[in-house]
Amino acid sequence: MKVLAVESSCDETAVAVVEDGRRVLADCIASQVALHRLYGGVVPEIASRKHIEAIYALADEALLTAGITREDIDAVAVTAAPGLIGAVLVGVNFAKAAALALGKPLVPVHHIRGHIAANYIAYPDLEPPFLCLVVSGGHSLLVDVEDYTTFHILGTTRDDAAGECFDKVARLLGMPYPGGAALDKQAATGDAGKYVLPQTHLSGNPLDMSFSGLKTAAINLIHNAQQKGEPLDVPSLCASFSQAVSDILLPRTLQALQETGRKTLAIAGGVAANSKIRGEFIRETKRLGVRLCMPPLKLCGDNGAMIGAQGYFEYLAGVRGDQSLNAYATMPLDELRF
Ligand code: KG4
Ligand code: ZN
Repeated sequence: MKVLAVESSCDETAVAVVEDGRRVLADCIASQVALHRLYGGVVPEIASRKHIEAIYALADEALLTAGITREDIDAVAVTAAPGLIGAVLVGVNFAKAAALALGKPLVPVHHIRGHIAANYIAYPDLEPPFLCLVVSGGHSLLVDVEDYTTFHILGTTRDDAAGECFDKVARLLGMPYPGGAALDKQAATGDAGKYVLPQTHLSGNPLDMSFSGLKTAAINLIHNAQQKGEPLDVPSLCASFSQAVSDILLPRTLQALQETGRKTLAIAGGVAANSKIRGEFIRETKRLGVRLCMPPLKLCGDNGAMIGAQGYFEYLAGVRGDQSLNAYATMPLDELRF
């Protein structure tokens, strides 16, 4: 079954063709990152306009790359939540028109479910149940994936997302948006023990996370050094910050593994590309004999293939959208309300 998949929830326009949820026949992306870099972050109105400009040509490119025609498409999947509302709307409207014109079913997909599904592409033998840590620019979640369309949120951030903090700290250090990857690169030559950054202790659910205190501490450290004219060891600050984020994510993930008894851990979302976090998770899962799935960097960031993968499983579960399908800025991962 061939799914045409559309993703436009943030600053990447993406159209893919995915067969049976696992085999990527085409994965085309038009990135707007260079444009938003001028403003230091995503400008929602510009993102929406650029999606409109790119999406039709991108769909043609995806069909061409896959070596198929429109008639070969069996269903159209689209990110319908969550995301920048104007941006998501562009993909939803395109997908509705495509499904209507082709006479094929329309399948709305939750963006974070898509990030998790990137693992099905990277690991063709991976099947639920497993535990998944989702760490992206907008979300930080520990999710028990019971089956392809049944999810239980075990822990979540109480404030900022991990990626957002990487980007904010990187921006203050003069790195271009989105700074997570640049900060990661700088950290390679730094001393992770040089700067001591705080850990926030939360009451309530021990699997919940908080990143805003860490972000503020890093920002204050940078401002203080700048105001006093003291030199900053940027690589070491980057390494210390990455370590601190990892120190929030790792113990909670290990606790969730213990509580659920899951023997497979998947990591999803853009922050999963971080080399410190990857290294720590590889070491600890090896020690515990837990299988670790980490998609390649290309599948960690936003892409259409992951929506095609999840779209296939949502289709099998009977999820359908019609011409009244709307876009949603927010929606819980564990309870679809399309
Ligand atoms: O999943 P994603 O592409 O988009 C969202 O759905 O949010 O994640 C983007 C986030 C950005 O905050 C970006 O800075 C971060 O992932 N990121 C990284 C790295 N590569 C991307 N953060 C830390 N280290 C990296 N290597
Ligand atoms: Zn994303």
